[in-house]
Amino acid sequence: MADFPTVRLRRLRRTPTLRRMVRETSVSVNDFIYPLFVEEGKNIRKEIDAMPGVYRFSPDTLAAEIKEIAALGIPGVILFGIPATKDETGSSALEPDGVVPQAIKTIKDAAPELVVVTDVCLCEYTSHGHCGVIENGCVVNDATLPLLGEMAAVHAAAGADVIAPSDMMDGRIGVVREKLDQSGFQDVPVMAYAAKYASAFYGPFREAAGSAPQFGDRRSYQMDPANAREALREVAADIAEGADMVMVKPAMAYLDIIRRVRETFDHPLAAYNVSGEYSMIKAAALKGWIDEKRVAMELLTAIKRAGADLILTYHARDAARWLNEKE
Ligand code: PBG
Repeated sequence: MADFPTVRLRRLRRTPTLRRMVRETSVSVNDFIYPLFVEEGKNIRKEIDAMPGVYRFSPDTLAAEIKEIAALGIPGVILFGIPATKDETGSSALEPDGVVPQAIKTIKDAAPELVVVTDVCLCEYTSHGHCGVIENGCVVNDATLPLLGEMAAVHAAAGADVIAPSDMMDGRIGVVREKLDQSGFQDVPVMAYAAKYASAFYGPFREAAGSAPQFGDRRSYQMDPANAREALREVAADIAEGADMVMVKPAMAYLDIIRRVRETFDHPLAAYNVSGEYSMIKAAALKGWIDEKRVAMELLTAIKRAGADLILTYHARDAARWLNEKE
């Protein structure tokens, strides 16, 4: 084995073109899924305080935004619904003309080729803000499952291209798959939020979606941030139940989990670069403390390098523009 001075690793870093030739990881606009918050109502386009550049839209103001997203070449969006009414069981999540079905129709008119993923979870629709049904102060697993199945079928009937359950109940992927199949949607894939951690990085999202739990926290269903081996069991369970794609969430503080899932499974792997991760970069950039473009691109590259195929990210619009600039 040769050694210094025969070996000089700097030789391949000498020019931008040489560096481009030996680059191991690249981020492309094809990797992005852009999250969108859709709120029941009219004429709403309201910026989220802790997430500059991210808005809540009503279905009627969504079309212009969608056309821009599609023009940037972003292949997909994921929808989060903010209903007009909430109750104990999140029944507004099951309305065939609810806010998410309305939004899907708007999107399909504005940009038919855009992939529409829908988040399936009750927390935005329940008065208590938990992701499942409550009995005796606990989030109960099995009673929640049929509601998630029904919600998935409602989204598929409205035209959703991919269903993404994010609730972390046990057995929900199997129930969602079965309900989709029974309802004639055997060709609609499921992207499972498989390893989803009980993370403080979701703070700004809960403001955006109005989904903070009104009592307790999500630690009895979302994963303990200290656990890595358990993530592999979660992913294995969701794959066994029929998940077509799996996800790790959050991304930045969980790159080791992304790597381990990548090495263990061959399914397409998504990583969710969550709200708090975005807010931190935006805040530091607004203060002039970091270079937003360089920091965001470095993080997106790191998420790809760790092994993700797809990245759900609030940076998608900006990053798509930056990537287009470079060519
Ligand atoms: C719904 C859901 C959450 C996020 C995605 N789906 C919030 C939560 O679990 O509390 C978080 C996304 C983000 O922070 O960007 N369960």
